[in-house]
Amino acid sequence: MNFEFTEEQIMIQQMARDFAHAEIAPSAVERDLTGEFPHEIIAKMGELGLMGMMVSPDYGGAGLDTVSYVLAMAEISKVDASVGVIMSVNNSLVCWGLEHYGSDYVKEKYLTELASGRKLGAFCLSEPEAGSDATNQNTTADKDGDHYLINGMKNWITNGKNADYYLVVAQTDRAKAHKGITTFIVEKGMPGFEQAKKEDKLGIRSSDTCSLSFENVRVPKENIVWEEGKGFNFAMATLNGGRIGIAAQALGIAEASLEAALKYSKQRKSFGTEIINHQAIQFKLADMAVKVDAARLLILQAAAMKDAGRPFVKEAAMAKLYASKIAVDCALEAIQVHGGYGYVREYLVERFLRDAKITEIYEGTSEIQKIVIARELLKSVS
Ligand code: CAA
Repeated sequence: MNFEFTEEQIMIQQMARDFAHAEIAPSAVERDLTGEFPHEIIAKMGELGLMGMMVSPDYGGAGLDTVSYVLAMAEISKVDASVGVIMSVNNSLVCWGLEHYGSDYVKEKYLTELASGRKLGAFCLSEPEAGSDATNQNTTADKDGDHYLINGMKNWITNGKNADYYLVVAQTDRAKAHKGITTFIVEKGMPGFEQAKKEDKLGIRSSDTCSLSFENVRVPKENIVWEEGKGFNFAMATLNGGRIGIAAQALGIAEASLEAALKYSKQRKSFGTEIINHQAIQFKLADMAVKVDAARLLILQAAAMKDAGRPFVKEAAMAKLYASKIAVDCALEAIQVHGGYGYVREYLVERFLRDAKITEIYEGTSEIQKIVIARELLKSVS
């Protein structure tokens, strides 16, 4: 076992850190207030190879491994988790799935643009009545010659307003239940495809989350990803990797919380000394540090297993379950260390809490992660 990163992984981490501090940090507070989408930042991230990190250079990607992706995701999310989720969805829910399951046509037409960051992608699985219960798809796609007509509604779609290409999961044969589900690529601007209102969220406020409506949206059969009837398996396989990305986002928030608590406790004085000299504060910092390291190890384990081509379903779910929980814990403790100052916007830690909460909800709630973990455990006993 080797706990050293490669030179390339360290370089990618440093590049993401430098970029986050120089280009993302200055506008993060303002964007949290206004909810403005970080267009320029995302364009620059595309130029740096951060939007298609794991995609082969043949299709416009950076050709890096999942470990490098995780390191970069955490650095970006440490400064702004809104930018983190935009990056995560494009990398792991859109590009990764297209590279692994897309036809040559799909890869050439769509993946190259998405992985290079010239276009942005969204992953459309959730519906008003299909969140955790993801097989309960009501969106339909009916065959019409060489095309399909998509009708229905999608909810909670990250990048929903600003994406160019949407992976849309729809029922092509209800009689076959989840084996009658298919994934299509829908382009922004296709007639009948509308973006509804942007949600006003507690956290990750400058990422855009919105619902989408489809009314007889005519999509060519070449836009099917993988094949008809494989759309649910596609979504599940893609989400396994997505969960590693969200775990890394949560890790970034937890690291930021720990750093903020540490810094503040060395400055703030009470009872005649810096509060870091009080054991009550030291215990909090120690607990946070253990949680951050444990989350990082779980995430790196899942990423390394994915890179090695080994099954990583359980490990990805464990990483997301734990990292999202400790992100909330660490943000709460950072607020506690800051006292009243932690409760106001000036000190950032209240944003960390608002941003952390969603990591326990999207890409599979914590309860879903436990189901996934338990099912994998059951498979291992005869
Ligand atoms: N990896 C690979 N395949 C999986 C899988 C996984 N983690 N979980 C299920 N599958 C496969 C099964 O093997 C099965 O395939 P076959 O029939 O071919 O054998 C198929 O999927 C159906 O599985 P189940 O019978 O287990 O289905 P289920 O209805 O009992 O439950 C579930 C499955 C795990 C609860 C699943 O519905 C689930 O993960 N739900 C959560 C969905 C989710 O994460 N939504 C997030 C939305 S996306 C998002 O948040 C994006 C964003 O914008 C940020």
